[in-house]
Formats: sequence, structure tokens, C-alpha cells
Amino acid sequence: MNIRFRAPRAALAVACSALLLAACGGQQADTAATGDQAAPAATGEVNLYTTREPGLIQPLLDAFTAESGIKVNTVLLKDGLVERLGAEGERSVADVLMTVDTGNLLDVVEAGHTQALQSEVLEAAIPQHLRGADGQWFALSLRDRVLYADKDLDLESFTYEELSDPKWKGRVCIRSGQHPYNTSLFAAMIAHHGAEYTEQWLRGVKANLARKAAGGDRDVARDILAGICDIGIANAYYVGRMKNAEPGSEQHQWGEAIKVIRPSFNVEGGGTHVNISGAALAAHAPNRDNAVALMEYLVSDEAQSLYARANYEYPVKAGVELDPVVASFGELHADPLPLGEVVANRREASAIADKVGFDN
Ligand SMILES: [Fe+2]
Repeated sequence: MNIRFRAPRAALAVACSALLLAACGGQQADTAATGDQAAPAATGEVNLYTTREPGLIQPLLDAFTAESGIKVNTVLLKDGLVERLGAEGERSVADVLMTVDTGNLLDVVEAGHTQALQSEVLEAAIPQHLRGADGQWFALSLRDRVLYADKDLDLESFTYEELSDPKWKGRVCIRSGQHPYNTSLFAAMIAHHGAEYTEQWLRGVKANLARKAAGGDRDVARDILAGICDIGIANAYYVGRMKNAEPGSEQHQWGEAIKVIRPSFNVEGGGTHVNISGAALAAHAPNRDNAVALMEYLVSDEAQSLYARANYEYPVKAGVELDPVVASFGELHADPLPLGEVVANRREASAIADKVGFDN
């Protein structure tokens, strides 16, 4: 991680008092070495706080720097972003905040660590239901939650509601009902059909499970290959990772055992459930103009394609070049449900999964 803040020492002290001591240690050392400790917010730089693996986004940031001349200082926060920003307060040097999962992003918004941004570039690139109405947050990529099916299964389309159909008894694999990926899906089901329907649906899904709801998303493909189940729900990007894995490796074999069907909700205009990775302008952004430049760069055709292909995610902007494996799944029609509604139902979704003993 390359961190070279030119921020007041007080801000660094606050930042380092809370979390990531190792990263802050490097930061202080760099600052001291360059003798910039009393400098005001610098021009030509932007500070990015991110929960994403640096390896995934570094090529993108390098391309931004090459194009704009603006240097990006990244601070990786595996978790504790809200706490970190809370501890830093008004002295935070964060300009852009980048997270995975709608809930994580909206937690940061709700805690007051973002500011509204009106940008024609962002608004033109990102569909309305995939950004905050007030410009407090923006999706950058989509993480669609899809059906993995035995590649030989005679099945062309699927709805999430069908998962509870008794014809799938003993044939479904899925991870824990309390994992955020599933909580988000169940929350969307509540938004579409209500809590009562969702409880009955989850009881039906539970009754169809071939094994305990546990493990990870890739285990669905593993268990389809092993003949334990025929279908399951998991994120599409894992298929990109599996199918692009070393031929002959276990992962590659799992990936080759399945096909992907993008389900939709069985409602008028319903689409495929998506989670997101996204970004927001930090509340106190000392390098505001550079922050906006970075965020707008992230929705350029070049950046969208690079970013989505690095993770096998789906670009939020239409018409951008896809990873070939992702392209083979066909076009994504993301469910138009506003993501804020999904987040609002998270708690209830978790309670219902608990009530029906989904993980037992
Ligand atoms: Fe994941």
C-alpha cells in the first residue's frame, strides 16, 4: 500500500488512534520522511478509503493518474470504515469512499460520512435506482445473484419464487440464510411480496435444501459437480473466477459443471437481484474537485470495463465491454427495485430466516 498523505499531523494522529495501526505507521513514516507534516490539503492528490482489495482496483487507479495527473492515496479498510470516519470526524482526509455491498455503503451514508454530489456525468452513466436520489452514493458495479444449475439440466429460465417449488425437493444448495448476500435477496423478496409471503417462501426453500445452508457460493458449484444438488443460488462473479481458473484445477472443474441462469422476480418488470460495489463523496473531502474527477472517471467506458473485468462483476454503465465469461451469461436485467428498499428490509429478512430455522 502506498500512502503519502500531506495532512496536518493532528488528522493523522486521530486517524491512527483508531484502526489500522500498521497502515498508519507507514503513513506517518512517509510524512515525516518528506517533511510535509504541516502542509494544507494538497492539490494533485485524492485520498481513497476503500474496502476493496487494492490489487483489484490498482490498475484502474493507475490509469486515472496517468490520464489526470492526480495521485491516488489508498487506505485499505477491510472493515470498520464507519468507525474510522467517526473517529476522524471533520479532520478526516478521506475524499472518496468505496465499498462493496449496498448495506455497507448505506451504513456510511446514514452515519453522515458522505455529502451530496450533483454530477451530470454520474447521473448519465448510472441508472436512477442504482444511486441515491440525493447524490449521496453511486453504484459502480453490479453483483448479480444468480442460479447455478447442473449444465445438463433442461432449464432455460427461472424465478426466485420457484426456489420453493416442491419439485426441487432435496435438490437445492445455498449458503447461510444469514450471509449478507442472502439477507439482501430475502429483503428484496419482502419488498416485492411482503413479509408473510417471504416467510412461507423461505420455509419452502428450506424444505428443498439438499444439505445444510452453509459454506460459500462456490460450494454450490462444487456440490452440483458432486451430485449433491441440481441447482443453487450464488453470485455470478464466482463463475468468472472458476471458469477462468487453471484448467484441471478443482475450481475450474466446479465452474465447468454448471451453467448460469439469471433469475428474475415474478412481478411486473421484475429483474435479477443485484448487490453492488459503489462509491460516495466523503463528507469533509479536502480534495473535493479531485474526488469528483476520480468518481466521474470510474464511470468512463474504459474504467467501467477494466473494473468489472477485474472482478468478473457487471458494469453499472450500459454498453461497456464485458469479460467473455460474464458476457456468455447474456445481458443482465437488474431488478428495478430501489436498493434503499432492500437495505431497509435487511433486519426483517434476517429475523425471518432465523424464525424458519433456515440454517438449522
Ligand atoms: Fe463474494
